[in-house]
Amino acid sequence: MPLVTNKEILDAANSGYYAVGAFNINDMEFLQGIVRAADELKSPAIIQVSEGAIKFAGIDYLINMVKLAASKTSAQISLHLDHGEHFDIIIDCIKKGFTSVMFDGSHFSFEENISNTKKIADIAHLFGVSVEGELGRLQGVEDNINVSEKDAIFTDPNVAAEFVERTGVDALAVAIGTSHGAYKFKGSANLDFDRLKKIKQLVKAPIVLHGASGVSGEVVEKANKFGAQIKGASGIPNDNIKRAVTMGVNKINIDTDLRLAYTSAIRECFSSKPENFDPRKYLGPARDAVYSVVKTKIELFGSAGKSGR
Ligand code: G3H
Ligand code: 13P
Ligand code: ZN
Repeated sequence: MPLVTNKEILDAANSGYYAVGAFNINDMEFLQGIVRAADELKSPAIIQVSEGAIKFAGIDYLINMVKLAASKTSAQISLHLDHGEHFDIIIDCIKKGFTSVMFDGSHFSFEENISNTKKIADIAHLFGVSVEGELGRLQGVEDNINVSEKDAIFTDPNVAAEFVERTGVDALAVAIGTSHGAYKFKGSANLDFDRLKKIKQLVKAPIVLHGASGVSGEVVEKANKFGAQIKGASGIPNDNIKRAVTMGVNKINIDTDLRLAYTSAIRECFSSKPENFDPRKYLGPARDAVYSVVKTKIELFGSAGKSGR
């Protein structure tokens, strides 16, 4: 079916108290792995691309690939710009067929974040495109961080609703202690669930969690066994994700877990069949690895069977 908006997917998740995975892609194999899992589990899925992915693959390739993948499934699929920062790129995405864009103004002051995000939201809405804004800085924190240090980094629940109202965003990305990449914490995960609870009480729009990969020890070990050098990696444990979902997080961004699974599958193929040079023989298993991770995430987030049509 045609692409749907993030608003359609996430408003349903918000009322139903489940979350939908937003999975980053850069190429066809990731896309096929994700959509196969969504199709089989009848789950909505948000396909997201960063500005870096657009630079790598080209915007027209990405849009047309995602539209084609969506046309072959009855699962709801949206195409979202992840961490949009540049006005010209965001406008290009809006005009060319993305169904959602994020404006990442988290590094601006509160007022500048509001005025820049609102500019994007006003334009996007004219085109029927959803908008995600971000308030607070995505960064892991040490166990012994004090309250005022936390307040300076994390989303302030008391102004989050004002941010949503004044910008008109359709979803809000919050900072509660998750961070991007495979090295999230020095100690253990320490998410601020009290803050999430307050945000959820005050903000009616769907809530987004970035930097939510679990960084499976098993996958990292496999990659290292076959020659990777990924030391000291750590992510968000599944029970923390489950808790965040029951507390009302509605969109969960996953990139690192897909990258790790894909790369470790390729490494295994290179190591076990060094004589092979047919890319299908290692990209196939890598695509299967993405599919397996996405299936696990869909179960964890509670979105199986929720594709509304
Ligand atoms: O949060 C960022 C995503 O993981 C995308 O990363 O900018 O390297 O494509 P990227
Ligand atoms: P991870 O690096 O934890 O997968 O987070 C991805 C993300 O937030 C993309 O916006
Ligand atoms: Zn992110």
